[in-house]
Amino acid sequence: MAGTSEFAPQTLQTLSGLRFSAATAAFQIEGARTLGGRGRSIWDDFVDAPGNVIDGSTADPGPDSYHRSAEDAALLSGLGVDRYRFSISWVRTIPDGKPGATPNAAGLDHYDRVVDELLAAGVTPEPTLYHWDLPSGLEAEGGWLNRDTVHRFGEHVEAVANRLGDRVHHWYTINEPASTSLQGYALGELAPGRTMLFDALPSVHHQLLAHGTAATILREHGARQVAAAINHSLILPETDAESDHRAAATLDLIYNRLFADPLLLGEYPDLEELDEQMPIHDGDMELISAPCEVYGLNYYNPTTVRSVNEGPLPFEMVPTPDAATTGFGPLWPIRPDTLRDLLIDMRTRYGPTLPPIVISENGASFPEPEVCTEPVRDDDRIAYLHDHLLAVSEAVEAGVSVAGYTVWSLLDNFEWAYGYTQRFGLVHVNMDTGQRTPKSSYEWYRDLIASVRA
Ligand code: NOJ
Repeated sequence: MAGTSEFAPQTLQTLSGLRFSAATAAFQIEGARTLGGRGRSIWDDFVDAPGNVIDGSTADPGPDSYHRSAEDAALLSGLGVDRYRFSISWVRTIPDGKPGATPNAAGLDHYDRVVDELLAAGVTPEPTLYHWDLPSGLEAEGGWLNRDTVHRFGEHVEAVANRLGDRVHHWYTINEPASTSLQGYALGELAPGRTMLFDALPSVHHQLLAHGTAATILREHGARQVAAAINHSLILPETDAESDHRAAATLDLIYNRLFADPLLLGEYPDLEELDEQMPIHDGDMELISAPCEVYGLNYYNPTTVRSVNEGPLPFEMVPTPDAATTGFGPLWPIRPDTLRDLLIDMRTRYGPTLPPIVISENGASFPEPEVCTEPVRDDDRIAYLHDHLLAVSEAVEAGVSVAGYTVWSLLDNFEWAYGYTQRFGLVHVNMDTGQRTPKSSYEWYRDLIASVRA
């Protein structure tokens, strides 16, 4: 047992019914950006433009999982997880994303191999079909602002389901649409780097439609579990002033409800800008809200807001008082109690239309060495994971149905605009050599899974 007795897994017996998983995403771990007939995505364009990534890194070779997937499968087997959440890169299956293209055999062969390696290791694959690598050719035609992108995504999903649907039965459709819309299209912090503010709203609708379209296709191929992975944050007002409460309600609407309401209630929340901007066609809301077996929820931290009178938005984000922080600093506070509260709020808000929740990502980065000569002792990550699992178990005790929990991430990897400066892995990766070294948290998670099963 790697952790201290304070973090003993015995305290987490309430979680014995959960499926445990660990997650990664193609662009963050694969490297090999020019191999196997792979096309270019908005993330290739973003990392190749100077100044976008804090350390100038390009995700290649990174952990090099394109060549090291068998090692990853062995690490997952050693961890004893039930499942592995990884993503299938659209630009490997349909390199230019163009209509009616013949799928790229080498790309599909790669994931075929990954799936077989996982199954041989006793790990259930749960791939995500869109984790941010939109084909560049589609972005040139408007990307997620263009309804046509939904149909192109359907072709990617069809190609993948045709090849893997005999062995893969658990799927994630889209990952964190709020990050794509808010940080990618509205604020320009992530690819495609557009700064459109409220004009980005159609990208919300089209991503949700992509989820509904994918779910239909996957079910035709025998899927047993389909979900989107939706990012949530508990929004806290900085003070008790009414203006701060109003600011918090506005961000809650834009960040949480804008995505969860259409999926779970079949309608968008009430927001003036929405009426003008959402390109809703007949039948869209039914497709988006078709029931799923589980609700995928990514959770990292709460967000504290202060009301402001100037600028495009009526709020600004401020540090959460009295909270320890992760490697990202003051805007990534550590407040596990907010995960419990958010889960309880979800049940209160959505009631019977909320299926069991799967925590599809949870984890933290901390300052850790680029090269390690002995296993990294990441007690701060163990404490973070333990305390968030305890929060999940408190929510379960309060009556919230939770079906699974996923650590972000199996491996240190390419953290988007932050390059290799933020390490989230249970396993340390030397980005020059690809060498993998399990950290203390790997042993802790392994022992936790074993003990809740015992
Ligand atoms: C959410 C994203 O899905 C993942 O790609 C990212 O690395 C983690 N959060 C950490 O920021």
